[in-house]
Amino acid sequence: MNELAGKVALVTGGTKGIGKAISLKLAELGADVVVTFLRSRNAADAIIDQLKSLGTNPHAIRINMGAQEKLPKIFTEIKEKYGRLDILVSNAALGIYTSALDINDKAWQLSMNTNAEAFLQCVKLGQELMPNGSKIVALSSLGSVRYIDGYAAIGASKAAIETLTRYFAYELAPRHINVNTVSGGFIDTDALKGFPSYDKMVEEVIRRTPFRRVGNVDDIADVVVFLCTKKASWITGQVIVVDGGYSLA
Ligand SMILES: NC(=O)c1ccc[n+]([C@@H]2O[C@H](COP(=O)([O-])OP(=O)(O)OC[C@H]3O[C@@H](n4cnc5c(N)ncnc54)[C@H](OP(=O)(O)O)[C@@H]3O)[C@@H](O)[C@H]2O)c1
Repeated sequence: MNELAGKVALVTGGTKGIGKAISLKLAELGADVVVTFLRSRNAADAIIDQLKSLGTNPHAIRINMGAQEKLPKIFTEIKEKYGRLDILVSNAALGIYTSALDINDKAWQLSMNTNAEAFLQCVKLGQELMPNGSKIVALSSLGSVRYIDGYAAIGASKAAIETLTRYFAYELAPRHINVNTVSGGFIDTDALKGFPSYDKMVEEVIRRTPFRRVGNVDDIADVVVFLCTKKASWITGQVIVVDGGYSLA
């Protein structure tokens, strides 16, 4: 149960949804988890309390992951507080829903900066604190390789993450640092519940998913956490699709 005791993990966007589930599962295995967030201090306070109640030493940093020049602050704080980083989970994401032909500068920059550029910079900065055998996992979604209506800008940023995963895996292999991405199908989170077409989306996803249900945060978090353990040491440079078979047909 204490497989990750003594390890320090960073989960960007670790205060809600999938990131929160990942943070809690890492802490259940003993890791001290640093979470970043942007808008909701209440959600950050709540997860910090939960992580402390698991007997770990967590830390929350309010930072806009899309502001490249601010990102070194995360790693300065981790170095000062813990002196090392063993697990990096690049999870925070933002985007504007638009067709490819309607992408404007704002939509393009928001998703490229918050999703792709943040992953690039976090790995470049984070690896300096990472000992041999550390783990890096990013989050992607099916819109990186398939057409999802309105997902053009976010899909492009996720495709960049998947490509970087393969390059980082190769370049960090001499230090036995594993780099992988988990690509999810529709996952039932509070963020999606706010969509006007939420009920219709759920109905359609269930119809197309062989397991006849939507995915939940634990479906994704369990795979991410597995990739953060020693048992996944022979997996690197992979994009693992976790969608209940949705993308098979
Ligand atoms: N939900 C799905 O169906 C699904 C499917 C496949 C893949 N994914 C991927 O899984 C990851 C998590 O998705 P989710 O649905 O769990 O998201 P979510 O519920 O919207 O949570 C996003 C988290 O990221 C933080 N965040 C957002 N923008 C940020 C920024 N600019 N700077 C710092 N923190 C920021 C949020 O904190 P604040 O709210 O405080 O800003 C929150 O903690 C994303 O990479 C997403 O693309 C999701």
